[in-house]
Amino acid sequence: MIQRIELNGPDDFHLHLRQGEQMAAVVLDAAKNSARALVMPNLKIPIRTTAEALAYKDAIVTQVPGTGFEPLMSLYLTDETPKEEVRVAKESGAIVAFKLYPQGATTHSSFGVTNLKGRYGVFEAMEKEGLVLCLHGEVTDPKVDIFDREKVFVDRLLAPLAQAFPGLKMVLEHVTTQEGVDFVVGGGANLAGTLTAHHLWINRNDLLVGGIKPHHYCLPVAKREEHRLALVKAATSGNPKFFLGSDSAPHSVGAKECASGCAGIYTGRHLLAYYAMAFEQAGKLEALADFAGKFGAQFYGLPVSDQKRVLVKKPESVPLDLDYGTEKLVPFRAGETLTWTLEA
Ligand code: NCD
Ligand code: ZN
Repeated sequence: MIQRIELNGPDDFHLHLRQGEQMAAVVLDAAKNSARALVMPNLKIPIRTTAEALAYKDAIVTQVPGTGFEPLMSLYLTDETPKEEVRVAKESGAIVAFKLYPQGATTHSSFGVTNLKGRYGVFEAMEKEGLVLCLHGEVTDPKVDIFDREKVFVDRLLAPLAQAFPGLKMVLEHVTTQEGVDFVVGGGANLAGTLTAHHLWINRNDLLVGGIKPHHYCLPVAKREEHRLALVKAATSGNPKFFLGSDSAPHSVGAKECASGCAGIYTGRHLLAYYAMAFEQAGKLEALADFAGKFGAQFYGLPVSDQKRVLVKKPESVPLDLDYGTEKLVPFRAGETLTWTLEA
């Protein structure tokens, strides 16, 4: 039986670090679990310009001196993003992606895009500069059932987009459905998908059966068990189109446990252990290293990280809560015992 796993990097290609005291509370978890992370730009006031992203990057690295943690930055795409910003972003060397949130799709997406076609000029510029388009793949049409929003996004928006821009690198982020997996598998080499640790673990029963579980609520929302199984299969398949993107998204206990709870699950503290357990349960532990440390870097055109993380087969309990500035945060699988531990 495998007792020790050595991982290059890893890279987390979808991470929320927030700002201020909330960032201070979570950024060290990120630096422990990953060498590089693609930092999401959905702050309350989103990161829309290269200058803002550079300042945000500085604020992040200042918090984790001596760790070598490298934030890879993304810009928040709006209806107003000028195509000139693409070249400025590329030339900065710090920005690797633009993030597309359909307006209203998720936490802090009110500045998001309303008209995809109107953004085609920016996509052309991204294609030319080799920047990646990261997609929150859910439609916001109120007539579409929440459990179908990813599938409908793939049909209505992603399929035509992929056809119009065969040379634009695109990531369907936090894939939650069989249809999403199938589209990524069937698409060109320019199309990839990230998979979160929590979506490898939970289905919609884990959210809704036996009392509503706010700490299992995130967007895209967890789907049926058959979809979860499709995600595990994709993650562990060795297909380089699928790689690690945690979507670790902290919210205070108060913001989660209330009448209109925020979407987002905090996996940052024990991230690699959650993935290792899911891969082990699938009998595919040997596939973890490429998923976590190689395929994403390859897709983004980055060298494989020269950092390493080691997981050992040792029980570790997930605390019931963690400090989150002046508040508390409940981590994924709080109170449970994990079977893998990250070596210090
Ligand atoms: C994210 C957040 O809280 O910022 N929430 C989530 O449920 N995943 C936003 C996002 O990535 O959709
Ligand atoms: Zn996210």
